[in-house]
Amino acid sequence: MQDQATRLRELIKQKKNTGIIKASDGPRARVICVTSGKGGVGKTNFTLNLAIALSKQNYSVIILDADLGLSNIDIVMGIMPKYTLQDVINGSKELREVIVTGPNGIKLISGGSGILELVDMPETRIQSLVEKLEEINSMADIILIDTGAGLSKSVMSFVMAADEVIIVATPEPTSITDAYAMIKTIGMKERGKRLKLLINRVENLNEGKITFDKLRLASEKFLNIQIEKLGYLTEDINVSRSVKLQNPFLIQFPNASISKNIENIALKLTNENYTDDALATNKGFFNRIVSLFR
Ligand SMILES: Nc1ncnc2c1ncn2[C@@H]1O[C@H](COP(=O)(O)OP(=O)(O)O)[C@@H](O)[C@H]1O
Ligand SMILES: [Mg+2]
Repeated sequence: MQDQATRLRELIKQKKNTGIIKASDGPRARVICVTSGKGGVGKTNFTLNLAIALSKQNYSVIILDADLGLSNIDIVMGIMPKYTLQDVINGSKELREVIVTGPNGIKLISGGSGILELVDMPETRIQSLVEKLEEINSMADIILIDTGAGLSKSVMSFVMAADEVIIVATPEPTSITDAYAMIKTIGMKERGKRLKLLINRVENLNEGKITFDKLRLASEKFLNIQIEKLGYLTEDINVSRSVKLQNPFLIQFPNASISKNIENIALKLTNENYTDDALATNKGFFNRIVSLFR
């Protein structure tokens, strides 16, 4: 562990000698992690369709399926990659070798068949996996990480390594309390991380607003953490239909209101002045990995 940390710090030092790490040092992807406290809240469907919306805006996107227990984004996409993250974890492939192209040109690193024991991988192996993400950092504009739910070490490693975190919650009280626990845990590990909240499966916009306000107020009052509103997605039968057809709803049902909502969310994400300046002051993915060792 110490050796790895020392080596990473050395690399950072070398980078620092050539100037501050910023966007002009070379293209680096914006790394956005999609996570939740509770499972089954819609992370995978949201991540996939967000990726499609971003690619429609001409951004190149890589999705990393990091739900090591219940990985399934390839199924929802209707593709069957030959090699997966499991081949990377067992050392037989490099990360860049397991990237496949899906609908609309989006790239995917599949999590594989999902082996539950991977969830409890030793911390050093999780770290080296997260570290490998630096390899693909220049290969896309945006990397979306679809994680598993909950506060496991593997989920938290991906969450803490990302530039930004999107927390998905539904209006159900169980989802709200689990999202709160996730916000609290992130806040304890790193203050100032950008947290965005997506409320999924709402009956109407008012329910979305009430749910968001509950989490925002509790986070502000008890944790002193600000969370940003990313948006609301309504309960929509087209989600389940598109999963059954193994075709993302943004492609299958482009005119459905949920598809329009996701496109708006993608616009919001890409028009929020995430400029070179933001990147220059941003610690960046590589530095974040190092800070995990401290
Ligand atoms: N907005 C929505 N409307 C209706 N069903 C949804 C919606 N979002 C997700 N679902 C359903 O919820 C289930 C879980 O979604 P999934 O994206 O796999 O969640 P997660 O990745 O968080 O486990 C799926 O069966 C999906 O069809
Ligand atoms: Mg999922």
